[in-house]
Amino acid sequence: MDQTTATPRPRRGDELTVMVDSLAHGGAGVARHDGYVLFVPGTVPGDRARVQVGKSKRAYGEARVVELVEPSPDRIAPLADHPGAPWQVMPYAMQLEVKSAQVEDALRRIGHLDGFELEPIVPALEQWRYRNKLEYSFGADASGRLVCGFHAPGRWEEIIELQDCLLASEAGNAAREQVVAWCRAQGLTAYDRRTGEGFLRNLVVREGRRSGELQVRLVTAPGKLDTESLAAAVTLADGLLWTQQASAGETTAGGETELVAGAERLRERIGPLELEISAQAFFQTNTEMAEQLYELAVAYAELGPFDRVYDLYCGIGTIGLLMAPRAAQLWGLEIVEDAVADAIATARRNEIGNARFFAGDVRLALRELQERAGRPDVLVVDPPRAGLSQKVVRRIIETSPKRIVYVSCNPTTLAPNAAQLVAAGYELVRVRPVDMFPQTPHIECVAQLVRRSG
Ligand SMILES: C[S@@+](CC[C@H](N)C(=O)[O-])C[C@H]1O[C@@H](n2cnc3c(N)ncnc32)[C@H](O)[C@@H]1O
Repeated sequence: MDQTTATPRPRRGDELTVMVDSLAHGGAGVARHDGYVLFVPGTVPGDRARVQVGKSKRAYGEARVVELVEPSPDRIAPLADHPGAPWQVMPYAMQLEVKSAQVEDALRRIGHLDGFELEPIVPALEQWRYRNKLEYSFGADASGRLVCGFHAPGRWEEIIELQDCLLASEAGNAAREQVVAWCRAQGLTAYDRRTGEGFLRNLVVREGRRSGELQVRLVTAPGKLDTESLAAAVTLADGLLWTQQASAGETTAGGETELVAGAERLRERIGPLELEISAQAFFQTNTEMAEQLYELAVAYAELGPFDRVYDLYCGIGTIGLLMAPRAAQLWGLEIVEDAVADAIATARRNEIGNARFFAGDVRLALRELQERAGRPDVLVVDPPRAGLSQKVVRRIIETSPKRIVYVSCNPTTLAPNAAQLVAAGYELVRVRPVDMFPQTPHIECVAQLVRRSG
């Protein structure tokens, strides 16, 4: 390109009018200004918007909407002022289409993969009120009144207060309101990360969708709490817990947790399994769709009665325990000890005798597992969003399973992992997205990889 005549790329603070033509992985709208790519959160394809440039890098920049000049004809009216539901302005059919296309795009463009079958996306059963877990934050409004809700996008210190979170059930909302009313009556204040002052940090409300149970966990800075009075006020909780968290970061993980009242674990049911879930253990946030996701994982495993199955990143063991009755042995590996304890309790409770679970880091413990258990016939992986490191993929290849079932919550990390497996002799046979998170850009999918013979 002739450097002297090229349009200079937009700089931080510039205001431009752009047309949004697609959606990027992660959910932001993509617009081009003289070929320069701008990511614009909160927009959808077909929007014409006046935007202000924020970060501006050589290859792309980020911008925020100043004015929606001409809304996309595809836009629909939002149901709720909810920062957790940015895609609610798109019709549900369009959300599904985009998610499916993004899975395909990631595999083809990032993974350079083809020849696989992309099976039709499984739509969600419920488009609202599907989440079984909500993590709220405490803050203060302009008048200093205590509020509980979600961080406003891009404005970290501001909390959007919710009367009715449309991603949670009515019962979960009511439990949150009981806690907030009590906190206000006690005169408690929100913790401020910048100054380290204040007490209330987060509120985690979890629901057993099938058991109807509610688990409520108040997360605070270290300090004193009138737990008896709290227990008397929060009548809707079947389990009430209190975590004192000293870390500066915004996290509900770790800290010192004590049981204030009721049951320590939440009961839930998935397919035939009766589950027990600890407060700090991972559990898919959409129970009804988790059931469908797991059914798909079981189908992709194509189990035979003599198969040895590994379930890596097994959480509370759900996927493996659904497979165990159709296999010879099930070996689960998970880093969170409470989750492993839940998996063992669930195996016992459901009289599944061929399943064993270990606490360990997959990066370090896989070779040891193989020495102990022998090679797997089927290997299931369900890693966090970052996917698998190249080293973990190499360790998986060393175990040489016939089939790999990869459950992914991020197609952009599935793609390079699948590409590495394909380069090592596996075939990516089929992939199916499952919509666990309507109104959001989050994508879940299951992939089946089969070892080529020879
Ligand atoms: C996406 S969740 C999947 C859990 C489970 N398969 C399920 O469906 O409920 C990922 C799990 O990986 C665990 N994990 C994260 N890093 C790990 C590591 N390095 N080794 C083992 N487990 C890990 C997390 O604690 C979490 O339970």
